[in-house]
Amino acid sequence: SESGCLSIVVLGASGDLAKKKTFPALFHLFQQGFLQAGEVHIFGYARSNLSDDGLRERIRGYLNGASDEHLSQFLQLIKYVSGSYDSGEGFELLNNTISDYETSKNNESGSYRRLFYLALPPSVYPSVCKMIRSYCMNPSSHTGWTRVIVEKPFGKDLDSSEKLSAELGKLFEEDQLYRIDHYLGKELVQNLLVLRFANRLFLPLWNHDNIANVQIVFKEDFGTEGRGGYFDQYGIIRDIIQNHLLQVFCLVAMEKPVSLKPEHIRDEKVKVLQSVEPIQHEEVVIGQYDGYKDDPTVPDESNTPTYASVVLRVHNERWEGVPFILKAGKALNSRKAEIRVQFKDAPGDIFRCKKQGRNEFVIRLQPSEAMYMKLTVKKPGLEMATEQSELDLSYGMRYQDVKIPEAYERLILDTIRGDQQHFVRRDELRAAWEIFTPLLHDIDAGKLKSVSYKPGTRGPQEADEMSRRMGYVQTHGYIWVPPI
Ligand code: BG6
Repeated sequence: SESGCLSIVVLGASGDLAKKKTFPALFHLFQQGFLQAGEVHIFGYARSNLSDDGLRERIRGYLNGASDEHLSQFLQLIKYVSGSYDSGEGFELLNNTISDYETSKNNESGSYRRLFYLALPPSVYPSVCKMIRSYCMNPSSHTGWTRVIVEKPFGKDLDSSEKLSAELGKLFEEDQLYRIDHYLGKELVQNLLVLRFANRLFLPLWNHDNIANVQIVFKEDFGTEGRGGYFDQYGIIRDIIQNHLLQVFCLVAMEKPVSLKPEHIRDEKVKVLQSVEPIQHEEVVIGQYDGYKDDPTVPDESNTPTYASVVLRVHNERWEGVPFILKAGKALNSRKAEIRVQFKDAPGDIFRCKKQGRNEFVIRLQPSEAMYMKLTVKKPGLEMATEQSELDLSYGMRYQDVKIPEAYERLILDTIRGDQQHFVRRDELRAAWEIFTPLLHDIDAGKLKSVSYKPGTRGPQEADEMSRRMGYVQTHGYIWVPPI
């Protein structure tokens, strides 16, 4: 493992993302010993006029459940530098502050590592990256590295995303850029490749001969409260489906990588994305919840979807004919994210139990991580009756003593270790935009209209109807007793 000075710079240090995700993730890494007090320093940078202690106090409130001693040790590692996002002055000051810290360390044998985390709106990425490039790079006289973490939205469509990629590509090498999709840091998302490729059970079944349909579902039970104006420029497809759900889709649908090398894995993701056929309007439902436009920052005529169900079809040997239904919605009846792989009916149904439902493999990403397989079993008792039951692996039961790490925690650690497996590569991002851009342009042009749905429900009925049309069979509690 590397030793030496590690400087972590959080740009946008007083913003929401930094307070809610970045600093808590850093704190958890510190608590677990991955960031050592003697080796790391954290620099917050933002426009607000704050003192070091001012920033520390703001962060403190978000680090619940920590022992006071740990917390104050951690907070002592944080310094604050104030400056604007496009002035050389501010970034020069930032660089001097980092250098002062680096020279204060006796670091003869070690390397100098600088990690920049952009917890900022994407409109300032190009200028901030230029500033980092001009003022804050790890000096060439040092060994070590400079890495930059950026977060979606990476543009609004293919063209704007390509433009941003080209701008950042001029400033940093691909192996210095870490494009975060925090779904790739979730435990059960990381488990997908293991499940699929380390279990003999699934290998022969994972294809169109056996699988009828796949649903990848994201639900939230709250609306866009407080960020309606921002959300309205993007909508649910850009916010959730084009990135988080599509990444999950890749891991469910891709072919087996040559090895676990990040490049090999990402090569396969790109291939499966490139095999996705153009999306058909008949295979899309978009919705907007009643009350969304009450937010004064949302325009009255907004057609922006807060719900969408989109069918992807993969044009290859494995998946011909299998619909992948990607659904996401805000202000629904519950909060969860799950993958449902539904198998075809067992042929030759001598039990006449088809109506009870099918084998379905469910991977619940959150909350309460779990995997379960719906099976038809004999209903215990004297009758020869069947019913649907589950083989259930609930993490809360099976791994009671394990604390499942937060996505951001894991991804920041990966960045420090230089592992890009769970980050989005430039060509992958392009392929993702290629899939959704025509649809997004049609929605923006009003060619598809959002239907309305009531907050706190399952979303538009049209979406359930579409899932049924795609062959999804809902499981019923129905028990059939054959005549003796
Ligand atoms: C973000 C979206 O990327 O993911 C938010 O911008 C959404 O709209 C969030 O609420 C969901 O993340 P998680 O980890 O809570 O499922």
